[in-house]
Amino acid sequence: MQTFTINSALDMHLHLRDEEMLKLVAPLTSKTFAAALIMPNLVPPVTTKEALLGYKERIKEACKKDDFEPKMTLFFKNDYSYEFLKDIKDEIIALKLYPAGITTNSETGVSSMDVESLRPTLESMSKLNIPLCIHGETNGFVMDREKEFMPIYESIASSFPDLKIIMEHITTKDAVKLLDKYENLYATVTLHHLLITLDDLAGGMLKPHLFCKPIAKRPEDRSALLEAALNAHPKLMFGSDSAPHPKHKKECCGCAAGVFTSPIALQVLTELFDKNNKLENLNSFISLNAQRIYNFKAKEKAIKLVKKEFIVPDAYRYNEEIVVPMFAGQSLSWSIEE
Ligand code: NCD
Ligand code: ZN
Repeated sequence: MQTFTINSALDMHLHLRDEEMLKLVAPLTSKTFAAALIMPNLVPPVTTKEALLGYKERIKEACKKDDFEPKMTLFFKNDYSYEFLKDIKDEIIALKLYPAGITTNSETGVSSMDVESLRPTLESMSKLNIPLCIHGETNGFVMDREKEFMPIYESIASSFPDLKIIMEHITTKDAVKLLDKYENLYATVTLHHLLITLDDLAGGMLKPHLFCKPIAKRPEDRSALLEAALNAHPKLMFGSDSAPHPKHKKECCGCAAGVFTSPIALQVLTELFDKNNKLENLNSFISLNAQRIYNFKAKEKAIKLVKKEFIVPDAYRYNEEIVVPMFAGQSLSWSIEE
C-alpha cells in the first residue's frame, strides 16, 4: 500500500475558540499537527498579556495528550505602545489585523486601513521584528473585496520594508501575483480555497458548510492558488483557517462564516498533491516554508498517511457541542495510520 510521511505539519492560521468548542476542536489539530498559529478573535479579542497567557494555558490543557505547540497571536490595535509589544514579544509569533466588522468577531478591529493611522503600532512591530498577519478584505462587493485590498497591502509593504506581512487566506490570482512584487509579503492559503469555487458553495443547492470569509472565488483564482501551493511557492504557507461554528449556527437562516477542516486537512492535502504528482513538495508547503518565513524550528512529529479509504465523520461532538467538518460523510482516498 502506498504511504507518505508528513514531518512536523504546521497550520499557520487556525481558530480554536474557547470553552467547550476548544475542548472539542483542539485535539483534532494537536493529534496530527506539530504546531499552529492561533487566531485571537475570541469575544472579547486577545489584546492583553493576561488574556494571551490564559488562553495559551487553556489550549495546552485541551491538547495535553499530544506533543503540540500553540503559537499565539495578539489582536492588532493601532495604539499598542512599544514597551507593551517589547514585553509580550517572546509570547507571540505575530499580530493579527482585522478591518472592523469584516469577519467573525472583528467588530473591534481597525476602522481605517490608512497607513498613517496604523503607523505607531507598525513602526514598533517593525523595530521589534514582529510579523503582521492581515485579513485583507475591504467592505466592497463580496467577490472584489480581496482584489480591492491589494493597494493597501502594497502601501503597507512599501512603507514598512522591514516588516514581514502575511496576507492571510488568499483567494485570488491577484494576491498570488503580488507575492512576487514585494520581498516582505508572504501568504497563507487554506485547504478549501485550493478545492472549491463559488460554484461549489452557491452554484447548486446552497452549501452552508462551505461558506467562509473570504468567499471562494472563480476557477482561474483557484488554479493560480493551486499552482502556487503544488509547486510549494517559497512565500506561501498552509494555513487551514479551520473555523468551527456550532452546527446550529451553520444550518440556519443567517449562516456563520467558516469552514471546519482540521480533522481532514492532512488526508485531503495528501490526496490533492498525490493526484497532481507533487507529493515531493507537500512537506515544504505544510512545514518547511513556514519555519523559514517565521524563523523557528518545529518539533519532530512524523505522521504516516496510507492510501486507504477514510470516511469523514458526519460530525464531531463534545457534550452539547456539535461541529460538522468539510466533506462530512464522504469518502477520501488517504487516511492517517493509527
Ligand atoms: C473566521 C472565524 O469564524 O473566526 N471565519 C471565516 O469565515 N474564515 C474568521 C476569519 O478568518 O475570517
Ligand atoms: Zn481565519
